[in-house]
Amino acid sequence: MTEKFISDSIKYIGVDDPDLTLFESQYVLENGMAYNSYLIDDDEIAVMDAVDARKIDEWMDNVNRELAGRKPSYLVVLHVEPDHSAGVKKFLETYPEAKVVGNAKTFTFLSQFFSDFNFDDKKVVVKDADTLKLGKHTLTFLTAPMVHWPETMVAYESADKVLFSADAFGKFGVYDADKDNWTCEARRYYFNIVGKYGAPVQMLLKKVANLDIKVIAPLHGPVLSSNLKYYIDLYNTWSSYEPEDKGVFIAVASIHGNTIKAVEILAEKLRAHGVKVSVSDIARDDIAEAVEDAFRYDRLVLAASSYDGGVFTPMESFLSRLKHKNFQNRKVAIVENGTWAPTAAKTIKATLSEMKNITLVEPVVTIRSAYKPSDEAAFDALAEALCK
Ligand code: FEO
Repeated sequence: MTEKFISDSIKYIGVDDPDLTLFESQYVLENGMAYNSYLIDDDEIAVMDAVDARKIDEWMDNVNRELAGRKPSYLVVLHVEPDHSAGVKKFLETYPEAKVVGNAKTFTFLSQFFSDFNFDDKKVVVKDADTLKLGKHTLTFLTAPMVHWPETMVAYESADKVLFSADAFGKFGVYDADKDNWTCEARRYYFNIVGKYGAPVQMLLKKVANLDIKVIAPLHGPVLSSNLKYYIDLYNTWSSYEPEDKGVFIAVASIHGNTIKAVEILAEKLRAHGVKVSVSDIARDDIAEAVEDAFRYDRLVLAASSYDGGVFTPMESFLSRLKHKNFQNRKVAIVENGTWAPTAAKTIKATLSEMKNITLVEPVVTIRSAYKPSDEAAFDALAEALCK
């Protein structure tokens, strides 16, 4: 049974979007997405965030059902990105007495997205550490700039000890109470969406470190109510750019399959050394998952065909994503393939040189067209170097 319950007075009123296949127009979804929203039922009723444009009607049905004819005092907007704020206007048209709680940037952004709506008499502008008393429940707002946008805030509710964490601790997928499924899709979500902002996430973790948190209520993914140290520790690892697992991730971009065959030989050699190995064909597999695995493991092999005097375009695109997401602090090896003038390694190295604290694992291995027995010594040397 799906558990969507926080307390007698804090209700889940979010919605699932099972038919969405591409989140933010780029991240492949196999199991849709959840847009979470919560209602705090007290002397004054607060709704915590709205939802995506695709699901406003369904969300309003949830709001209306929980209100049961009563009027909400506040709509708290922790994050203005449209997957959460698209429903703001509809809510305010339905409940014109309600005020919107946000910071100065929240209202700048809301006015940009809703230029046909006047927020002037709706605003409750809060700053870092400001509080809002609803009755038994009190919200304390903590700014969390760049987790994931500049206006992002989290809110701590002190009666039920709930951290409303905005995008932090979210995951891809419809609402799923099975916490065992959390890590993989939360990691893919983190590195692809928030990954660039490790330092701001570290700041947020420090800000909330002394709070007595019993529940984390994010804007995507399940409400987390047990074993919170596990999730917070993972966020600490991820946001400090430390690897989560020992192992080698091989990202390969192969035009005709020969570079893939070559890295399969390298993978076998690494496994023979007792190393955990994961391989992704980045021309075909989910690129967001490849980004996730590059961050997850402590060693990375980039293997690619040469192409037009550079590197095969899926590798170019993968490197560009890693750079965007602040990839750093890893050991990286290169395998290039070229039939007449191998250029992949030079191009890969040039991009790696723009990243922080990348250690190149030698030797850089070049194969000509396809792996041959004469390549074995170089592959053995690379496997050994990766195991040091
Ligand atoms: Fe879920 Fe940054 O929006």
